[in-house]
Formats: sequence, C-alpha cells, structure tokens
Amino acid sequence: MAERTLVLIKPDAMVKHLAGNIITDLYTLNLKMIALKLSKVSRELAEMHYSEHKGKPFFEDLIKHLTGELHNNEKVIAIVYEGENAVQKVRDAIGKTNPDECIPWTIRGKYGKINTKTNCHETVIHASDSPENAKREIDLWFDKDEIVE
Ligand code: CDP
Ligand code: MG
Repeated sequence: MAERTLVLIKPDAMVKHLAGNIITDLYTLNLKMIALKLSKVSRELAEMHYSEHKGKPFFEDLIKHLTGELHNNEKVIAIVYEGENAVQKVRDAIGKTNPDECIPWTIRGKYGKINTKTNCHETVIHASDSPENAKREIDLWFDKDEIVE
C-alpha cells in the first residue's frame, strides 16, 4: 500500500476562507486524495488527536483551537492523501510549527500566525509527522468505508 497521511484544515484557516487555497497548494504535490470530510470536532476527538501534547502549557488552547472554540465554532476539513513519501512531502509543504520560522512560501509561512493574546501558534493545517502516526490518526478520523480507493 502506498504511504498515507492525514491533513486537517484547522478552524483558523476555515474562518479566514483559506480551505481552497490550501487544497490548491497541496495539489502541486501530486498525491491522490482518497478521503475528505467536514467535521465538527468534539473535545474528546481533539484530545485523542493531540494526546501526545497532554500536560504541555499550550494544550488547553490547542484543544479549544481544534474544536473551533477560538474561531467562531468553525469546523475542520479532514483529508487523507496517498502517494510515495506522502508524509514527508506534505510536512515539507506546510513548513515548521512556528509560523514565524517558516520559509515564506510554505503553507504556514503564507497563512499562519502567532496569536499575540493567547500565544497560540495558529498553524492553519495539521499533517501527520510519521507513517505510524498517520495510521493512528486516519483510524481516528475516518471509518474504513469513508476511504475511497
Ligand atoms: O503541528 P506540528 O506537528 O508542526 O506541531 P506540534 O508540535 O505537533 O504541535 C501541535 C500544534 O500545537 C501546532 O500545530 C500548534 O497549533 C500548537 N502549538 C502551539 O500553539 N504552541 C507551541 N509552542 C507548539 C505547538
Ligand atoms: Mg504534530
């Protein structure tokens, strides 16, 4: 099976009407889109998705961010891409975690910001950071029959 990765277009991107721009940028990677849905993210799902960050100072804001609580209760677009080296290709395209440190033409370089009130890194997009995490995350966000091969 070709490598798969999970992308989330986060509520900060949705509130800025950036979903189309982000998907257009990702098309340049020439990966296959095999699942896509709009999701109203529960606190439970957000906590499971970001379980590795539990206990960190930014965790509470991170959960409020993903559930849309910080951005007008916006939803999230979840996408699964498949293709050779999909995880690394998407990570390279999105840029670093801190938007201020990103190469300007990466997705986070173009659209991300640090919220000066909360210090939250509003990174506009999530992408899996390893094939193992991609599998765990895809299983969390999608039922098997939602993957269109
Ligand atoms: O998203 P990425 O995998 O690049 O980074 P992470 O270390 O897994 O952090 C997950 C998310 O937490 C980031 O995308 C940011 O939204 C947020 N974060 C933050 O607000 N402040 C930090 N110092 C680090 C991460
Ligand atoms: Mg991460």
